[in-house]
Amino acid sequence: MIAELLPAGLVGWAERFDDVEPDDLYPQEAATVARAVPKRRREFATGRRLARRALAELGVPPAPILPGDRGAPGWPAGVVGSITHCPGYRAAVVGLSDRVTTIGLDAEPDEPLPPGVLDEVSLPAERDRIAQLGPGGVSWDRLLFCAKEAVYKAWFPLTRRWLGFTEAHVDLGPDGTFTARPLVSTPVEQFSGVWRSEKNLLLAVIVLPSDGARSGR
Ligand SMILES: CC(C)(COP(=O)(O)OP(=O)(O)OC[C@H]1O[C@@H](n2cnc3c(N)ncnc32)[C@H](O)[C@@H]1OP(=O)(O)O)[C@@H](O)C(=O)NCCC(=O)NCCS
Repeated sequence: MIAELLPAGLVGWAERFDDVEPDDLYPQEAATVARAVPKRRREFATGRRLARRALAELGVPPAPILPGDRGAPGWPAGVVGSITHCPGYRAAVVGLSDRVTTIGLDAEPDEPLPPGVLDEVSLPAERDRIAQLGPGGVSWDRLLFCAKEAVYKAWFPLTRRWLGFTEAHVDLGPDGTFTARPLVSTPVEQFSGVWRSEKNLLLAVIVLPSDGARSGR
């Protein structure tokens, strides 16, 4: 599902629609979820398995990926990446940091947000955009939320700073693209992403290539 959202040859990726059993976590990883409920342990383990499979695509040997600052995954040196899990879907996308600056990935069920949530996580201009997009088989409110979480996952490794839901303006395109403009001091003026709706799931992905990769060096 995710392959066609990704720039060919730039990233490694892996996805699943269920959990791996048994897990193959490193002891240090297992320790971080030892007290978590079984569902959380399973999604964490599946994310790690997928991340290592994605790393292997780039020729990076398997290594522990420990949760770091504010929950961001601690990738091996020279790697950037992102992990997501939601009911019925798990995925990881990684890149080498000399070619990719940051990655943000989020998946959500394609169903409307609970009442009242949209107002809390959106700007008036974003709600106007959703109203313009109108009904079309996609839960636009949930897609906005999904794109914003992908923005945060791309933003955090660059800044190590929190970014609130109303601190970036996300503009959803009906053509499967979106842009996000942080409204606070930022090293990246605009993030460009792509989205897809399929199998009752929404996926939003940002892959920001490095200057070198952009100029073909
Ligand atoms: C962190 C957050 C984005 C995770 O999203 P989610 O939909 O709840 O959960 P997902 O399963 O998609 O993603 C979880 C994964 O995100 C990654 N993640 C967690 N914190 C992260 C961070 N600070 N930076 C980057 N990635 C992070 C982890 O890999 C985590 O999985 P793991 O714990 O198994 O390793 C969300 O919980 C959150 O805090 N959102 C508020 C901030 C925000 O979205 N702002 C919007 C800005 S416009």
